[in-house]
Amino acid sequence: MNVDIGNALASVASPGLSRDSLERLDEQVAVAHERIERGMANEEHGYEALNLPERTDPDAVRSAVEPVADAEALITVGIGGSALGAATITDALADESDTEAVYLDNVDPEWVSSQLERLSLEETAINVVSRSGTTAETLANFLVVREAFEEAGVDWTERTIVTTGESSPLRDLSERHDLPSLSVPDGVPGRFSALSAVGLVAAELCGHDIEALLEGAAAERETLAGSLFDCPAYAYGATAYALDQRGAGINAMLPYAESLETFAEWFAQLWAESLGKDDLGQTPARALGVTDQHSQLQLYRAGPRDKLVTFVSPGETDDRPIPTTDVEDLAYLGDASLGSLLEAEFEATEASLAAAGRPNVRLELERVDEYELGGLLYAMEAACVLAGELYGVNTFEQPAVEWAKKATRGLLGGGEFAEAEAVAEKTELR
Ligand code: PA5
Repeated sequence: MNVDIGNALASVASPGLSRDSLERLDEQVAVAHERIERGMANEEHGYEALNLPERTDPDAVRSAVEPVADAEALITVGIGGSALGAATITDALADESDTEAVYLDNVDPEWVSSQLERLSLEETAINVVSRSGTTAETLANFLVVREAFEEAGVDWTERTIVTTGESSPLRDLSERHDLPSLSVPDGVPGRFSALSAVGLVAAELCGHDIEALLEGAAAERETLAGSLFDCPAYAYGATAYALDQRGAGINAMLPYAESLETFAEWFAQLWAESLGKDDLGQTPARALGVTDQHSQLQLYRAGPRDKLVTFVSPGETDDRPIPTTDVEDLAYLGDASLGSLLEAEFEATEASLAAAGRPNVRLELERVDEYELGGLLYAMEAACVLAGELYGVNTFEQPAVEWAKKATRGLLGGGEFAEAEAVAEKTELR
């Protein structure tokens, strides 16, 4: 993956980075890199995620999915980091798969019911993913899915794969029913687990090349170095951090491919849940090119100078010519294709932001395939870990998310009442 930070420089944009400030920042990057390397070498919590390209065993994933390899659809039951990495991969590569991937993360009853009514459950596999094995949404949806299978006369125990942490209630359940199971590796928080079994079960079942995903990630890992000038991932993380320090508190992720829309969602979780601590962090915004050129772009170009726009160029794509017409004003379209129009819109939007002095960065893929996706996911994780070091926050914890999880369980009578009582008190105050 290539990163171009040219439009984030002070000569182009405000806020922007001067060459001197980049040199000073690079000293901090060198120190942060040493810390990251130490964490990786010692397999410390969180840093261990950056070792996944070497640690993940594709054969273990393949043999776990073997019993349901014929499935025509896959329901993944999981939320947050237990779903978004897998969804990023299967959505990006959906046009190359005959297996439909459905993600039950939300507990919206109408939506869950509509999915279960629509699918042919005899031909469907279930992929339950929860590191903790205690997340209310995931466990509730799993129980609902199980019941739907039973009502349809399908033995769910023959159709289910479980991926969970070592000591989790979900592991007990999988052992009780003798279900094929995989582990969420130790030291890997949910939002950093896309390149473990958590992300790869769905990819394998949908027929994607999981080895190529890991190879792409491994190639990106090889670029980690003590200078932002030598490492694309660090160039991105350091630039985003430094722009935030100068007032660009919002990072709009703008991929120019429909298939990468879920990537923007995954990125938003990674950036927000990892860096949003101690009153610090940069707010991610999700956008999609070209659609958002006709909505959010107005704000990006002329609104407050509080944004970094991150373009993602998908590289080579299939194309489709635009038919010619005898309407004179539309003649120019007849010489173009949808692909060249998309590319022109990308270039024009990037240039229009630069012309207005708005900082933007370009992430460039060669194409949307397994190898490039593996590299992109890994690079954004490494960028995020670096940014966390620069902010000085604990990138790998998520106390605010955990608080709300406990409060939810407490309100439903599932123990851990301290948080639930706080919710009740607050409600009374209104
Ligand atoms: O990144 C994280 O830690 C979270 O987003 C979790 O992945 C999410 O809350 C789901 O947790 P679990 O996998 O324990 O069900």
